[in-house]
Amino acid sequence: MTGLPAKREIADYLQRRFGRRHCVLTNRGTTALAAALHALDRPAGAAALFPAVLCSIPVFATRFAGWTPAFADVNLSDANFDLDDAARALADGGGRVGAVVPVHMFGKVDDVERLERLARGAGAALIEDVALSLGAERGGRPAGAFGRLACFSFVRKMIPLEMGGAVMTDDPDLARRAAAWVDAHPPPRPGAGAETAAALRAFHALTGYVATGDWRRRALLDGFEGEFRRLFLARTEDVDWDAPTALAELEKLDAVLRARRARAEVYDTALHHPRVVPLDRSGSALFAYPVRLTGWAAEDVLDFASEQGYTFRRIAYPDIHPVFGARRPMPHAAVLERELIGLPLDDDRPVSDFWEYAADFEKTVGAYELVGPGRPPVDIRGRLEMRMGGVT
Ligand SMILES: Cc1ncc(COP(=O)(O)O)c(C=O)c1O
Repeated sequence: MTGLPAKREIADYLQRRFGRRHCVLTNRGTTALAAALHALDRPAGAAALFPAVLCSIPVFATRFAGWTPAFADVNLSDANFDLDDAARALADGGGRVGAVVPVHMFGKVDDVERLERLARGAGAALIEDVALSLGAERGGRPAGAFGRLACFSFVRKMIPLEMGGAVMTDDPDLARRAAAWVDAHPPPRPGAGAETAAALRAFHALTGYVATGDWRRRALLDGFEGEFRRLFLARTEDVDWDAPTALAELEKLDAVLRARRARAEVYDTALHHPRVVPLDRSGSALFAYPVRLTGWAAEDVLDFASEQGYTFRRIAYPDIHPVFGARRPMPHAAVLERELIGLPLDDDRPVSDFWEYAADFEKTVGAYELVGPGRPPVDIRGRLEMRMGGVT
């Protein structure tokens, strides 16, 4: 404890740790992203470019800032931006794209140097979304140190806080505009946690419903926006922050990363099946351990597994682009929506759990190989989002 007000103490810590001059604390990552976009002060309707495979929440945040989401394909080696397709999307945007937002998928930092060059060449700013990559590094620099702005979330991802996010930047004008936008919102409503969690589930279920249709259902999301905005966007005051707890969790991050690395090594050692191909994890914070089930739909394998009595915890993200933007061919996003899952690396579970998980997974994949190709395929449209919404 330093005797400083809670927000100043946390912001100082984050500025030191991530080598940034300014830090604006927010109630969560969604608000951070909306504030960062707002700070760029572009004409209404400017586009923010996202990789096509990701969680729908940060995409929705762009709408809160009056921006329009746009998408580029991903690459198959680490599920981050396909740089050629990102360049194409920037060129096609005709100057309308004001921000490029890498999300550092599953904790691995995107090729921020090349993205920065691409963005600058198109008159756009790079905004890092560090929600999944807190603690990751690239070329000796931490995720969050790149880009004109970097957005953080502390809500139950790499660290287990119940609230919190931040926008970091070196530019005082951007910091001022982001702070003014955040401060213009009401304070967090007491006891809103359960309501927000329910709204999040409803949002995912609805997004999944949109995705199962012919994409014309997307107008349904408009009606949700006002509620979502009311529940999600809030300013925070010192009293909202428990500085000792937040700082203790941030201090633990290096230990968390070591624990996650030990769990990833279990998968490195135990998974051998030729269909199970791990993605590049260099410098990753290991939010999860991404594997492709090459040539197979992960949902087919997981359905088969549940018939065998195995439920594998995992994280999977949809190719979200048709829900929020124009549908265009994104071949890699389609492959990764089908084949990619993130195996869990939770540091609060003993390493022995992961040996068991890996052995069961390996056994299931081997058994699926014998019978799988003859089984009717699962329709995955909307399914991943539906599951996040609690609809199975
Ligand atoms: C990549 C990414 N960015 C941002 C967010 C939003 O963060 P928060 O849950 O703190 O609002 C999420 C979470 O859903 C996410 O997955």
